[in-house]
Amino acid sequence: HRKVTKICCIGAGYVGGPTCAVIALKNTHIIVTIVDVNPTRIAAWNSDSLPIYEPGLDAVVKECRGRNLFFSTDVDKGILEADLIFVSVNTPTKTQGVGAGYAADLGYVEAATRRVAEVATGDKIVVEKSTVPCRTAQSMRVILEANSRPGIHFDILSNPEFLAEGTAISDLMCPDRVLIGSLDTPAGRSAAASLADVYAGWVPRNQIITMNLWSSELSKLAANAMLAQRISSINALSAICEATGADIDEVSYACGLDSRIGPKFLKASVGFGGSCFQKDILNLVYLSESLHLPEVAAYWKQVVEFNEHQKKRFLHRIITCLFNTLTAKKITLLGFAFKADTGDTRESPAITLAKYLRAERAHITIYDPQVTEDQIWLDLSEPGVVDDIESLKKQVTICNNKYEACEGADAVVVCTEWKEFKMQKDPADTRGMDWTRVYEKMKKPAFVFDGRLILDVHRMEEIGFQLESIGRPGKGFRRSKDWE
Ligand code: NAD
Ligand code: UDX
Repeated sequence: HRKVTKICCIGAGYVGGPTCAVIALKNTHIIVTIVDVNPTRIAAWNSDSLPIYEPGLDAVVKECRGRNLFFSTDVDKGILEADLIFVSVNTPTKTQGVGAGYAADLGYVEAATRRVAEVATGDKIVVEKSTVPCRTAQSMRVILEANSRPGIHFDILSNPEFLAEGTAISDLMCPDRVLIGSLDTPAGRSAAASLADVYAGWVPRNQIITMNLWSSELSKLAANAMLAQRISSINALSAICEATGADIDEVSYACGLDSRIGPKFLKASVGFGGSCFQKDILNLVYLSESLHLPEVAAYWKQVVEFNEHQKKRFLHRIITCLFNTLTAKKITLLGFAFKADTGDTRESPAITLAKYLRAERAHITIYDPQVTEDQIWLDLSEPGVVDDIESLKKQVTICNNKYEACEGADAVVVCTEWKEFKMQKDPADTRGMDWTRVYEKMKKPAFVFDGRLILDVHRMEEIGFQLESIGRPGKGFRRSKDWE
């Protein structure tokens, strides 16, 4: 099989950037060029402040950039020179037309594929890195073959990415597995072997798995659906805990000790967020419906529906505890990112919560250590509503100091599990939070709603707080049945 010496990655996003930076780090003999149509993003990749926050990423980029890692807006040149091309563009949920709200919008994948077909003057291995519905590789092949110069051969591989944001670099350095799907033909197997060599630069061979294209494509949707399903399962149980006196962390611990279940992805929360889980499940739902499998579709759909319900349940608990009205009350949201260690807010439960709180006419103050102010305004404003920002600013304040954010608050809501919101170990521990200081400046009774189970109820109550955590019955929580 062919040795890969030049790689081009189309799409310099959360996946393309870190993945290809690590490929460059571990394969000094391969020239890696990451291209994108967005000039601002490329400029940021070429600057000292990278477009995404990811622990460890800066060091990797610093080491390779200019050596064998390049970022460019020249998509055509990248394609022309490469022998292997990753397609790592966004595949958001369609917002209109057939399948709106479920199906993946494959417009960006198709545009990138067409570009490859038009520009290529030699044989290429084209690798589907984006998460796509099962059988997309087939569409890519038709597009490539119908639009390319005569005599040029394309091999298409599926190589889904399993990194999670916030731990992208360590996930890439030590992946559980690398999946490569190819056609079961000599050419297909040879292309898969070429890509396997790239990963073998640092991943043990027995963790590089090859399989058929369609299995590989479906495995990515399946893995995300199963991970999200665990969270919805534990969150559904959290509701039972709140109503009975059981503690969800204890239930999760007990279940996780069963080696058949395992402890990971069983942390109850205000709901899962992120750009993948919801999108990929809806994608699977749409795929199932298209295949005339309505029961399969309904089964997976419930995972997303319960996630929405979990956010509403949490809001309802806030309202009930705060004497059934939030009007003009100051509610502080600690954390806006969809999880800790990322500045990404896509599908963050904090967005939904802030919108619900706005509808209750609360005054909202938001603090997050990584999310930019512009991003928060963008997430909270309704697209296309011109005067929205002005009315938004009357109700929402963004604060860059966590203690100031909590001053005078009726309630503090922990939305993201940032370490800096955990209780400090001792007064010298500047990485944690001095909750006594927060308590002193809050309205009384001082409510804290822990949507991430990071705070200890006894220690918080000792300070004087009324702590209401997901999956634990709270002191002031009177059961109410009037949410949906
Ligand atoms: P992203 O939006 O951060 O990045 C995609 C980039 O592609 C954008 O910068 C966009 O400008 C660029 N792009 C779009 N069309 C292009 C074109 N025709 N030519 C050149 N550039 C183009 O998206 P992401 O989070 O990196 O996700 C990419 C894919 O990877 C998605 O399919 C996603 O489902 C999948 N994925 C994401 C994650 C994650 O944690 N974010 C994890 C695994 C898989
Ligand atoms: C996910 C998959 O984990 C990853 O393999 C895939 O490549 C992309 O999608 P990501 O969305 O970046 O990664 O983060 P993840 O750690 O999976 O968290 C997703 C959401 O679930 C977050 O909002 C997180 O807070 C929440 N979560 C996670 C829980 O509520 N409980 C858990 O036990 C784990």
